Amino acid sequence: MILVTGGAGFIGANFIIDWLAASDEPVLNLDALTYAGNLESLATLAGDKRHVFVQGDIGDRALLDRLLAEHQPRAIVHFAAESHVDRSIHGPGAFIHTNVQGTFTLLEAVRGYWSALEGERRSGFRFHHVSTDEVYGSLGPGDAAFTETHAFEPNSPYSASKAASDHLVRAWHHTYGLPVLTTNCSNNYGPFHFPEKLIPLMIVNGLAGKPLPVYGDGQQVRDWLYVKDHTSAIRTVLAGGRVGETYNVGGWNEKPNIEIVHSVCALLDEMKPDAAGPYARLITHVTDRPGHDRRYAVDARKLERELGWRPAETFDSGIRNTVRWYLDHADWVAHVQSGAYRDWVSTNYVQRSAT
Ligand code: NAD
Ligand code: TYD
Repeated sequence: MILVTGGAGFIGANFIIDWLAASDEPVLNLDALTYAGNLESLATLAGDKRHVFVQGDIGDRALLDRLLAEHQPRAIVHFAAESHVDRSIHGPGAFIHTNVQGTFTLLEAVRGYWSALEGERRSGFRFHHVSTDEVYGSLGPGDAAFTETHAFEPNSPYSASKAASDHLVRAWHHTYGLPVLTTNCSNNYGPFHFPEKLIPLMIVNGLAGKPLPVYGDGQQVRDWLYVKDHTSAIRTVLAGGRVGETYNVGGWNEKPNIEIVHSVCALLDEMKPDAAGPYARLITHVTDRPGHDRRYAVDARKLERELGWRPAETFDSGIRNTVRWYLDHADWVAHVQSGAYRDWVSTNYVQRSAT
């Protein structure tokens, strides 16, 4: 079996669903169920014995030791993290706790477990660390896309904490020989995406007739990847990646935020027309994010060259699936927009004046 951390979050839940659709190898899912963790995202696996859920913190060493001894995983896929840049600006402490301290504790527990393995169980073991392109910092308009050898220049508390975790993973391989793999992926979108991030926020706000808050001039560029393509990339690297290597994962799909927001509005106009007028009327430019990275772009050629992976979804098909999914899952959306979600909306948006 494999141990997945953070499997009740956006990408982790998609990963587990896709994993169990492709194989019968069981998954032990360790997740603290923070505001971002949601077992409803795994509702289709209810009663499926191949999925075992444990609520717990990756910083809990005793729990980790017990789970590793009991379940004897052949691999770890480590998603658990605090993942939202705006939250990291308002409260960086949780990012250090989980992304740095938590990853350290997990690495130590896994090192203890792996060191006692023998033969093929030891040589075949893998620790797959799921990271982000944001560790590389920000690009200028004409700069080449990030390769795996680009310097780490993280700019937000989130990206700095992820960069720290990447360094720890690297060092645990270099120093202790732990068989690690790291993937650095660009912005994901798709089903089960928490509506604090750009694309789902625009969909749920649009449907509610609320303003669509675009930070600054909206010309910041991200490289968007459909989440199912990310989960397939992780499966590919876990199966065939070279130990100790990092692989960039991206969609070859750079777009400025304002264009993304217009795409979402156009799909909503088509799929759920609003009598009050086009959804784009709700676009509101608001105060920019402090230290806002201007451009991310990922060069994913190493993964294609070595392991033959390329994204299957185009942006047009992926964003269409995504908007359709949100329209078809109003209950999921309503349940995640709990009291805690409303507190966040007030923290992040109420003080942002329209510009
Ligand atoms: P998410 O915020 O949706 O989910 C994170 C999950 O981790 C939640 O289920 C949460 O409950 C759990 N968690 C948080 N702290 C924990 C702790 N201390 N112990 C155990 N579980 C804990 O995040 P996501 O978007 O699914 O991202 C998953 C991973 O992928 C993260 O490591 C993130 O840095 C990375 N990543 C995300 C993106 C993206 O676009 N979302 C892009 C590249 C990389
Ligand atoms: P986000 O989804 O938070 O991902 P990240 O910051 O990790 O790239 O944001 C994507 C882009 O959208 C980023 O440039 C910030 C911008 N953005 C807005 O303009 N308005 C919003 O309300 C949010 C949440 C993000």
